[in-house]
Amino acid sequence: MRLSVIGCGYVGLVTGACLAEAGHQVVCTDIDSERIAKLNAGGVPIYELHLSQILKSARAAGKISYTANGGEAIRASDAIFICVGTPPKENGEADLSAIDHCARQIAAEANGPKLVIEKSTVPARTGIELTRALAAYGRNDQIKFRVASNPEFLREGTAVEDFFHPDRIVVGVEDPSAAEDLREIYRPIIERRFTCPVHNGTCPPGPRGELLVTTINSAELIKHASNSFLALKISYANVIADLCERIGADVEEVTRAMGLDPRIGGQFLKAGLGFGGFCFPKDVQAFIHLAASVGVDFDILKAAERVNKERIGRYTEKIRKALWVVKGKRVAVLGLAFKANTDDIRFAPALEVIRELLAEGAEVHATDPEAIPRTQAVFPQLHYHDDPYAALKHADAALVCTEWDAFKKIDWERAGKLMARKLVIDGRNLYSPESMRALGFQYHCFGRP
Ligand code: UDX
Repeated sequence: MRLSVIGCGYVGLVTGACLAEAGHQVVCTDIDSERIAKLNAGGVPIYELHLSQILKSARAAGKISYTANGGEAIRASDAIFICVGTPPKENGEADLSAIDHCARQIAAEANGPKLVIEKSTVPARTGIELTRALAAYGRNDQIKFRVASNPEFLREGTAVEDFFHPDRIVVGVEDPSAAEDLREIYRPIIERRFTCPVHNGTCPPGPRGELLVTTINSAELIKHASNSFLALKISYANVIADLCERIGADVEEVTRAMGLDPRIGGQFLKAGLGFGGFCFPKDVQAFIHLAASVGVDFDILKAAERVNKERIGRYTEKIRKALWVVKGKRVAVLGLAFKANTDDIRFAPALEVIRELLAEGAEVHATDPEAIPRTQAVFPQLHYHDDPYAALKHADAALVCTEWDAFKKIDWERAGKLMARKLVIDGRNLYSPESMRALGFQYHCFGRP
């Protein structure tokens, strides 16, 4: 099928690249012509595991192309994926102006019937508004638009793997033919008719992702309900960690045992600095706002959000307690990205921590395998090091803010010899307290004795 993708951000590029790799013909467009120029020159504007490899192979196979001319992309396809940003407004509500702009452009440029698929995360009822907007903006009554919602469940860092091995593919439609078209689009994925770029053709056995057909409203709700539930789970684990600290229990032991109950599940129970990124914080806010707008008070979600915001304060409290005076201290911040395997620093807990440290007059030496360039644009005054050991040299404390594998592998015996003081304040519970203490470190973490 001929597909187009509007919006070459992380979701758009992963969607476009994976569908092209699965055999479709894909045209990608973006209002940012520099981004398109970069893609046309073979560049990849974001870091995502396997993405540059599949963009390269899809391009070599003539399956993917890029144009800054939105009309051209719209006319070239039967189905259009809207993958534009829906950032939060001041009051937490999602800003849907980019979706509205797409509707206007599609209605104006379409030369025939189109299936318009919302991939961007949007509040429930956006599909209804989108259908109305396409009809209102259209100049030709003969051209029919069908709208569908197909939320993404892609985690940054494993987005390509998630796309090829989905737990579920949700398609929200009002028209059965739209469901059939989407089934066709996803057929290579469902039937595993692709060469997996992640496992090089030897994918581990596992259940195939099920395609669920729902109404558009349900599909939109599924996305927010899923992300908010995961955020809730993380905040729950964080409160358990606080309790463990007061009571003298070990949060890792508690959550591990909890997670063995299949009704609970072990994932997203990792206590620490809390959740960041461009999805969870904004989705939680948007969901609270949506609920309030229809008269439903989502108190438990508000509590999850509050608990998450308080994580930073709890962490800096630990830093202050351990360092006594923060002013003038040299600290090594290990990890800037909001989580491992991404260069994304949006709503990253590390950045909040750094903001506080700078306000208190600390000298910050930061390291991250991927996120240094992006952070430099926000905090030009920090000292940056590609090598974690260089960041740790002469440091009064090591502050672990992101769960990168590279940090799990740090040789603390070696690092201890470089540091001014053997102090680690671990915001991600990466190390064993016993081993760190055996190496002579003063070690602080979340919810473990
Ligand atoms: C999320 C959803 O997982 C994905 O399905 C959705 O489509 C987009 O939003 P992502 O934002 O990439 O994906 O990050 P995710 O891996 O879900 O982690 C979110 C945050 O929670 C990170 O900051 C992570 O460090 C934190 N986290 C995660 C915890 O603090 N504890 C955990 O147990 C798990």
